[in-house]
Amino acid sequence: MKLFLRSGWRAVVALPFLMLLASCASDVRQDTLEPEGPAAADIDDLFNLIAVIAVIVGILVFAAIIFIIIRYRARDDGQVPEQVHGNTKLEVGWTIAPAVLLMVVAVPTVALNFDLDAREDDAVVNIDVYGQQWWWEFRYDEGVVTANELVFPADTPVNLTLRSRDVIHSFWLPRLNGKLDVVPGRTHTLAIESFEPGVFFGQCVEFCGLSHADMRIRAIALEPDDYEAWLEDQTEPVEALPAPDELDEDDPIASAARGQEVFGQFCVSCHVVDGVFTDAADGNAALVSGAAPNLTHLMTRTGFAGAIYDLYTSEGEVNIPDLRAWVHDAPSRKAMAPEDQRGMPSFADALSDEDLEDVLAYLQTLGDAPMLPAGAELEDILRP
Ligand code: CUA
Repeated sequence: MKLFLRSGWRAVVALPFLMLLASCASDVRQDTLEPEGPAAADIDDLFNLIAVIAVIVGILVFAAIIFIIIRYRARDDGQVPEQVHGNTKLEVGWTIAPAVLLMVVAVPTVALNFDLDAREDDAVVNIDVYGQQWWWEFRYDEGVVTANELVFPADTPVNLTLRSRDVIHSFWLPRLNGKLDVVPGRTHTLAIESFEPGVFFGQCVEFCGLSHADMRIRAIALEPDDYEAWLEDQTEPVEALPAPDELDEDDPIASAARGQEVFGQFCVSCHVVDGVFTDAADGNAALVSGAAPNLTHLMTRTGFAGAIYDLYTSEGEVNIPDLRAWVHDAPSRKAMAPEDQRGMPSFADALSDEDLEDVLAYLQTLGDAPMLPAGAELEDILRP
């Protein structure tokens, strides 16, 4: 008994320290307690109000429990405390006090919900968001289509219209706004805004199958002028490379030109390259969802495969090893179900080594380097 008491006390003492340590992580990328936009800041304020109330209530309850445990513990003299039944004052008190507290919490909570909804009316930029197993697509009014990376202007209200192509997902950029479910057959709207240019991280937060955890979002807020430049660049279609037999064997784009042909044999049934390969446009991909990432400006992104792999190294080199492994045998790099037309199939048997290198060369011709906010480095957005 004594031994139990000793180790029991140790656990009691260690527990708060463990909890304290667990809360010590600083500089976490998906931190809802470090808001970077007005919606997230309002949510954080509400959280702080409720946290203060909860902590005070918690302290009072634990103090009362400890007091009662000590004051009314069993004693050796066998003396039993006075036995009572009911106490009207206490019972009325502990009914009314929580009701008042709940009202104090409910009024700003409900008000904030309405306020968050109303923000959509101020939006000057509209972006359609599609969730599907297991990546995100962003479609802009200007006809631009991107995957996994949401580029938007800073200090500008942006309205996201969320739809699902298959199952229920949930969209969350913790530093910018709360979560919102993305439900098949329904259209939900979510307003985001960032105070400053910057990079923000998020992910799907509704279990949606095999690679739910690998359905990430990178969001990049640019200065409004930079955003306009980005948008203009993205609207440019790709120019087709010449056919390989029109080029010398040692031409620097010979490999990419052969890769374009290989792409036209295999990748084209799902992926779109605006201006060259458009068979799979508008939901015609050979997938349950009908859509795969549009690769027109692939190299302007920083990640691929649901933003779980980096497209560049922190030195700015293309991350060829991961890209090669992905094109070669995607299902070995991310859990997917290509046999059910969900996710990318393996090309391990279909592509020769040379075909694979040629496709990689072709992919690298699709778009320029990513545009990051002033002051941001590639390593700020790559996987830590
Ligand atoms: Cu999509 Cu979880």
